[in-house]
Formats: sequence, C-alpha cells, structure tokens
Amino acid sequence: MKITIKEIAKLADVSTATVSKVVNNKDEKISAETRERVLAIIKETGYVPNRVASSMVTKKTNTLGLLIPDIANPFFPELARGAEDLANKMGYTLILCNSDNKMEKEDAYLEMLQEKMVDGIIYVASSRRTVLSSALQRVRVPVITVDRKIPGLKVQSQITVDNESGAYEAVSHMIQRGYKKIYHIAGPQTSLPARQRYEGYLRAMGDNQVDLPEEHLLEGRFSSNWGFEAVTKLVEEKVEFDGLFCGNDLIALGALKCLHQHDIAVPDLIGVVGFDDIDMAQLTSPELTTVNQPNYEMGYKAADLLIKTIEGVKTRNRDYLLKTQLIQRGTTR
Ligand code: RIB
Repeated sequence: MKITIKEIAKLADVSTATVSKVVNNKDEKISAETRERVLAIIKETGYVPNRVASSMVTKKTNTLGLLIPDIANPFFPELARGAEDLANKMGYTLILCNSDNKMEKEDAYLEMLQEKMVDGIIYVASSRRTVLSSALQRVRVPVITVDRKIPGLKVQSQITVDNESGAYEAVSHMIQRGYKKIYHIAGPQTSLPARQRYEGYLRAMGDNQVDLPEEHLLEGRFSSNWGFEAVTKLVEEKVEFDGLFCGNDLIALGALKCLHQHDIAVPDLIGVVGFDDIDMAQLTSPELTTVNQPNYEMGYKAADLLIKTIEGVKTRNRDYLLKTQLIQRGTTR
C-alpha cells in the first residue's frame, strides 16, 4: 500500500504543507531539524510524491520549459545551465526542447510544453522566426523571451544584450588596430541579434570614416561551415580584405580554419573578431578576440523572472538589456 503525504505528516508531526515544501526543496522558513526529520521519515517509508496528483490540487507542476534553437551551438547550453541552476535552487525542474531553428518544431514544442502543464516557458526563438504563429499567440502560460525579441509577442519580460554597441566596440577596435577593409560575415538577418550586429558594424565604419567594401555583408548561418564557405569565397575570388567581423564565434572558427589552410597570417595580415565568447574561443591559435555575451546570466535571470512571475512576486523591470564586453585576444593586432 503506497504511503500518503498525510501519513508522512502525521509521523513527522508536521502539516502536509510542510512535507510538500520539504519535498519541493523550497527555501521556506523550515528549521533544519524539521527538514531532516521529514526527510528521514520519507527515506524510511520509501514515500514517493505523486507530482501529478499534487499538480491537480495546486495547479502547479514546479516545471519550466526552456526552448532553444540550436543545442549544438555552445552559446545555448551555457544559457540553459544558468536557467537550470536557478530553477533547481528554487525547487523547479526544467524541460529542455531544441527547435533546430525550425518554426514548425518550435510551435509543436510550445503546444507540448503546455500539455505537460509547465508553469512557464523561457523562449529563445529560431533565427528564422519572423512571424507570430497561432501557436505562439495561443500560449497561455507566462513567457520570458531571451536573446531574440519577437515583435508583437506578449511576454512577461524579455532579456537581451546590447548587440549593436557590442558590434560597434568590436569593429572600432579593429579599425584602431589598423584594419580597414573589414567584411562582416553575418548570421541570418531574420534574427534580430544578427541585424543589430550589422547595424553596429555600419555605425563603427561610418563614425571612423572607413569606406564600406563592395558587398561587405556576407549573410549566412550562425555556423562554422558558413564562416569557412564565406572566407573561401573571398580568398578564391581574390577579394582584398584585411579584417573579418564575424556574427558569432562559430563563424569565426570557420573563418580561421580557411585562413589557416591558405597560410594567411592572423593577426598580422588579417584581423578576426567573433561574438559570444564560447569556451572554444580560447582554444584557437591564436586565441579568438571576441565579444562576451553574459549567456549564463541571461538564463539565470530568465528563470528568476519567470519563477517570480509564476509565484506572483512583483518584479521591478519588465525588460533587461545586458551589456557585452570586448575580449581582446590574439586574432587582432
Ligand atoms: O551563436 C548563436 C547566436 O545566436 C548568438 O550570438 C546568440 O546571440 C544567438 O542569437
């Protein structure tokens, strides 16, 4: 016969609410002695909380959904780690979904997460998301968007970084280091962060009176293959360039691979700058100059705001614009 929460409470001489708070690891005002006594009785009796039953009563599952567009891109797992760390601390579990940058998969996940009764969703949109789908408009739980804003989507909060300023600082740094013929190997311009980085590149080139090269924007994917393909095209077409501002670090890694294969010296002949500051940026030779995004903090803050919203805690700001930081390493003079 399965032991119930009522019997645990009786054995521990506490209320069922106290048992529930101990089980959900809530940082409530429960003395260490009480917590230990309840946990000991749970262990002795082999009690397993019935999450489905309790969610029917509380209308809460203490579960969050996290929807990201590309689990293979190191930028996103670090963001997920931040969200999961805070969720776990607050007694929530996270369901991680990878949309593979496909909007139809994203919409299916948004529906599935609600069918699984998550209490809220942290949503990083596909880089191809340009329209508010009906699935998005039908979302009935609190949503926090991170990194990529969706115009017209009603959300509790959104957390982004100042991509335009980060790009402006990166390209200004390249110009100050003497690079002039700077091309932008960009991510998909359907993605707002990619467009903002391009805007920062244009403003830096303009403010420094540097002529824009013909066809200076090479738009593609946030991937190393795209970086390799784009720079191979420049090299094979004997385009004159001395600087590459890349839309993210994966693009920069592909660019460095191509330059290395053609024995083109970095940073002496060509300066290369990325964006994200993933761990691999410190593993290239020379190490990649890039723009650090606080992705762990973005995930942590998103989970914090979402749980506060779910639990009815008033939060000061709706939207957060976090700062980036230029990390000067060896791929620029
Ligand atoms: O690397 C993936 C890119 O997509 C990151 O720069 C992040 O900002 C996201 O938009």
